[in-house]
Amino acid sequence: MDDHAPRRSIRIHAPEDFAGMRAAGRLVAAALDMIGAHVRPGITTAELDRLCHEFVLDHGARPASLGYQGYAHATCISLNHVVCHGIPGERRLADGDILNIDLAVILDGWHGDSSRMYAVGQAGTRATRLMEVAHEAMMRGIAAIRPGATVGDIGHAIQRHVEAARFSVVREFCGHGLGRVYHDAPNILNYGRPGTGARLRPGMFLTVEPMVNAGRPEVKVLSDGWTAVTRDRSLSAQYEHSVGVTEAGCEIFTLSPG
Ligand code: MF3
Ligand code: CO
Repeated sequence: MDDHAPRRSIRIHAPEDFAGMRAAGRLVAAALDMIGAHVRPGITTAELDRLCHEFVLDHGARPASLGYQGYAHATCISLNHVVCHGIPGERRLADGDILNIDLAVILDGWHGDSSRMYAVGQAGTRATRLMEVAHEAMMRGIAAIRPGATVGDIGHAIQRHVEAARFSVVREFCGHGLGRVYHDAPNILNYGRPGTGARLRPGMFLTVEPMVNAGRPEVKVLSDGWTAVTRDRSLSAQYEHSVGVTEAGCEIFTLSPG
């Protein structure tokens, strides 16, 4: 989401609410597993979107993005220098493309939100390294989540890993609280200082979703109002998980069973 949310209080969910988030998260993970087999040269991003959409409906859920602020698709599919919010369309995948597929579902009122990178055939070494760094940055952000830690601790862990690899963190978009709503407080910035910002407590549900550019961090949004691209046309990568804060640390709701 974009980092413009007003300050709201952060909802603390009951222990029994974790079951709903687990089911929604598992469904997103299963859809992102399913779509991997279809990521091949020649398929269009609209076809990938339709397959995800049908999978979600077939499993008794609906896509959260459909109708969200006027968005008309089940997924965002962001290729190569597209940072996020790529709109599915007639573009055909080609060997060497890298792409992010971002899917959020609503199952029994609970939101699951996750995204992964996919490579079409063989990605280049720099693209492969970029995807690895984005994934590890997300996992380090998640590893910082425990009661008493702050949202700044998450951002710092992400930023530190990305910049040590000499890549850059996008500032305009961030993770978010979620649960019965898609985008809630707090914003989870992908950069920051340790010990700053809201303090985490058991029962908070969050996404961690860093966007990492191979070149400079600046982005621009195209005239369609959605597609965000790197200003310098460098490659960009993103991963996203939905997590719940527990007494012991956190639980990742959107992990693949595989
Ligand atoms: N994918 C974004 C997120 O993870 C939200 C996209 S909103 C949409 O929070 F409408 F474009 F889908
Ligand atoms: Co999200």
